[in-house]
Amino acid sequence: MRSGFSSRMGFIIAAAGSAVGLGNVWKFPFEVANGGGGVFVFIYIIFCAILGLPLIMTEIAIGRRNHLSGIAAFTSLGHKKWSFIPILSMVIVVLIYSFYNVVSGWTILYSVEIAKGNFEAGKNFGSFASNFKISGWYSILSMLITVFIVIKGVSSGIERYTKLLMPALFFLIFALVIYSITLPGASEGLKFYLVPDLSKVTLKTIYSAMGQAFFSLSVGMGITVAYGSYLQSNANVAFMSIMVILADLSVALLSGLMVFSITYSQGLQDTAGGAGLIFTVLPGLFANFGDIGGRIIGLAFFLLLFFAALTSTVALLESLVASVVDKYKMSRKKATYVCSFIVLAIGFLSVGANGASDTLTHFVKYSYSDHYISFMDFIGNLASDTLVPISALLIVIYAIFAWKMPNLIKELSKGFPNFVSNSLGKFVIFALKYICPVLISCVIVITILQIFFGIDILK
Ligand code: TRP
Repeated sequence: MRSGFSSRMGFIIAAAGSAVGLGNVWKFPFEVANGGGGVFVFIYIIFCAILGLPLIMTEIAIGRRNHLSGIAAFTSLGHKKWSFIPILSMVIVVLIYSFYNVVSGWTILYSVEIAKGNFEAGKNFGSFASNFKISGWYSILSMLITVFIVIKGVSSGIERYTKLLMPALFFLIFALVIYSITLPGASEGLKFYLVPDLSKVTLKTIYSAMGQAFFSLSVGMGITVAYGSYLQSNANVAFMSIMVILADLSVALLSGLMVFSITYSQGLQDTAGGAGLIFTVLPGLFANFGDIGGRIIGLAFFLLLFFAALTSTVALLESLVASVVDKYKMSRKKATYVCSFIVLAIGFLSVGANGASDTLTHFVKYSYSDHYISFMDFIGNLASDTLVPISALLIVIYAIFAWKMPNLIKELSKGFPNFVSNSLGKFVIFALKYICPVLISCVIVITILQIFFGIDILK
């Protein structure tokens, strides 16, 4: 029998620690900027409810039914032929982790720069990101810290610190939101962020919002199964999942409030679309608090952001290590070194994709679009917009046709006895049977048509 989480709160915090990360504070605002503002936010929230919730619940249930994770979770009960789902999960995790680690490195770099009082670091983001040595070394540093924790084992260290750090991050973002929405000119930014302009809905908005929902909730890639495997059988899966989604959503929404108030008040809205968004925008804000105050608040912010990233990188590396140990019977230590080395090596291609190498920076141009995207964006699209929907669809198909719906419902009813008659339960069952398969399939087909055949149906 596995050692469970020390408490239900421990489970929620660990799952929220995996979900809340750079996806919320770094990726969400620039996806909103690219996706047309309020309308993206609106679609994003809907996707969290109609896709995120049913999928998180399904993944947790798959893990909890036999208290198994990874390949074993899918292949027990005679479902041997489904082992490709967890293998696809591993591929997705490697791809996501490879660029995630680079950005995590930037959060350490910015902690150092702000601590030195370099409030110009925002304007110089391009020169940091395009410097292969600087970005490369910080990505190595971020990886080493993650390896250090994963080798030691996760439980006592990371769970304990996450419990302290997540509320601190929340508090700091909250305080910065209050400060930034009162800046002159912020209201224009808030209008862009909060008022949906339906004329801006494009296919790209829809599938970016879906990709972002999966990415930010760490769902659709089979990782949450592992969390389920540690959960007690009488815990209410629906309640836990909703708590995780609310925690994740609120950090993202608050970050957006902060970032769009600041970009508009500083007249930076034209530069808002890129991966550097929070790094270019925030340092200038911290300067307003004076030299010492700015250093302290800025350092606190970027360090906490690094810790939020760290709880996610630990979950990412841990999931790879656990699978490799299970499959190849390798020692935990060796598996940790091998996995981190592979991820770091692929990550160097993303390090070079922000100006250091022209080939990697202008890596590919899809036939439906007129501009080149970088290797880093390409990997992000490949993982979040293409492979994750495929994996999510496979998980739903597995749950409905291999494991079978009545068994899933039975698992979800543990700790929630009137699940089937409750309107939340009815909604989740309906979403799983109809909304998820149909919507995800549409997006997969449309994406494939776009990327491989250059056909843009909605044009
Ligand atoms: N959800 C994380 C974030 O928002 C990123 C992430 C995606 C992740 N997939 C994951 C984290 C799997 C842990 C495990 O930053």
